[in-house]
Amino acid sequence: MKQESCTIVIFGATGNLSRSKLIPALFHLEAAGRLAPGLRIVGTGRRDWDDARYREQALASIRDDRRASDEASLHERFLARLSYVRVDLNRKQDFTALADYLERNRLLAGGIVFYLAISPSFYAGAARNLARNGLSREDSGGWRRLVVEKPFGRDLESARELDRSLHEDFREKQIFRIDHYLGKETVQNIFVFRFANIMLEPLWNRNYIDHVQITHSERQGIGSRGGYFDRVGALRDMVQSHLLQVLTMVAMESPPDLGAESIRDEKVKVLKSVRPLTEDAVDDMTFRAQYAAGESDGQRLPAYIEEPEVPADSNTETFAALRLYIDNWRWQGVPFYLRTGKRLAENSSLVSIAFKKPPAQLFKQTGIDINRPNSLILSIQPLECIRLELQVRENGLEMKARSTHLDASSCALSASGIDAYDSLLLDVMEGDRSLFLRSDEVEQAWKIVDPILQAWAADSDEIPLYRAASWGPKEADRLFHRRGIRWRNTL
Ligand SMILES: NC(=O)c1ccc[n+]([C@@H]2O[C@H](COP(=O)([O-])OP(=O)(O)OC[C@H]3O[C@@H](n4cnc5c(N)ncnc54)[C@H](OP(=O)(O)O)[C@@H]3O)[C@@H](O)[C@H]2O)c1
Repeated sequence: MKQESCTIVIFGATGNLSRSKLIPALFHLEAAGRLAPGLRIVGTGRRDWDDARYREQALASIRDDRRASDEASLHERFLARLSYVRVDLNRKQDFTALADYLERNRLLAGGIVFYLAISPSFYAGAARNLARNGLSREDSGGWRRLVVEKPFGRDLESARELDRSLHEDFREKQIFRIDHYLGKETVQNIFVFRFANIMLEPLWNRNYIDHVQITHSERQGIGSRGGYFDRVGALRDMVQSHLLQVLTMVAMESPPDLGAESIRDEKVKVLKSVRPLTEDAVDDMTFRAQYAAGESDGQRLPAYIEEPEVPADSNTETFAALRLYIDNWRWQGVPFYLRTGKRLAENSSLVSIAFKKPPAQLFKQTGIDINRPNSLILSIQPLECIRLELQVRENGLEMKARSTHLDASSCALSASGIDAYDSLLLDVMEGDRSLFLRSDEVEQAWKIVDPILQAWAADSDEIPLYRAASWGPKEADRLFHRRGIRWRNTL
């Protein structure tokens, strides 16, 4: 496909996100022939770098990326697109210098992506200073798009405030709120799997589904991110954004078409239908905990409060679990369990859809266990997989069954080698907003999470602990709506 040429201006070009994700993704698009010949990448940062220094850093990022081609001519072609302009976000005159640079290089006539890979505290100021220098206006012919990274606020009020500021200078259609989870192939596959197949539709509701679990677990502890994470916690960091997004993909109705607004309308409807948690319900329907020290491969793993920059009396949760209900016709009464944690036993992101048991105990006198109802597993990482688990008869004289599964994909590590940022950056350039969050979507997600944040903040009890490298606290089981349910941890 022929790509339209444009310019990508990265704020925070010297930072971690830019080095570990954006440059590798752009290089991957270069290798795939998806960057137009005239496309330019302008890195900006506070450091006093020049083009050569910026290109050196970019080359190092490419070399660190296991997916990247080592073809020298490709490196050369990509690096030639890069330049560096020093912009201190606190200095208005630096934005004027940036606008001059874009004009001098005749880049204003085309489209420009402004990618804010910077601390959220700078978002509103950066948008304002871009606008002051005419860089939000689209009347010169080229489009202007602003990409913001999560977190979008730290609660409902601050998210609204951030939106108000951004909307003073940019229209909603110019703002691309990125949630990289939505760029993951399996997450997109949920959509195709549900709406390109009629087979599941009659089963996809309260009549056949017992409950849904959405899990994101990480083996790693907080490491060097303690300073940031301690102010945020697992609920804001993962649940408000990624896990609620996955929930919308599982629960949404079919949109009338594939237009961004149609898809986002349906996702917002799901979030609006999530039953609000009252103060009393928070205790019953949520659980939080923090990792204590543990051991893995004979090595001691530190407790959360021993991590750098974490206060010794921190009450911040590194584990959060919720039971939610979606009050609409399709999902009435079906519990959705959301769970995330750091320093758990394995890295795993998956959705487990547990179907109900067969209505009659036909196999009571046999070795067939009807307590193993069908499950559909949508595994997002590390393996990408859609798996249907079934019971079949075991060959032999006895009436016995065994579990087997049908895999609807290769169940391998990301088979395509495509990272979420590859496809999301391409979408920004092409103006496709369907995988980006609309402002009302972000607001609805905060409405769900806000009462929990408030209740947890008011709770002065000591936070429960779980052993590092375990599957989390046993007490989280109390969220289940009945006995006999277990957390589904891995594929
Ligand atoms: N890292 C990730 O994987 C990741 C994932 C999801 C979301 N995010 C979000 O992405 C954003 C950036 O994260 P990050 O991890 O890349 O942070 P980072 O490594 O701390 O980088 C911050 C960047 O901001 C620049 N900066 C700081 N103060 C500045 C100023 N006054 N003027 C100009 N530039 C300034 C830094 O430039 P200097 O180095 O020159 O000071 C640096 O390039 C954050 O909003 C974060 O929440 C990151």
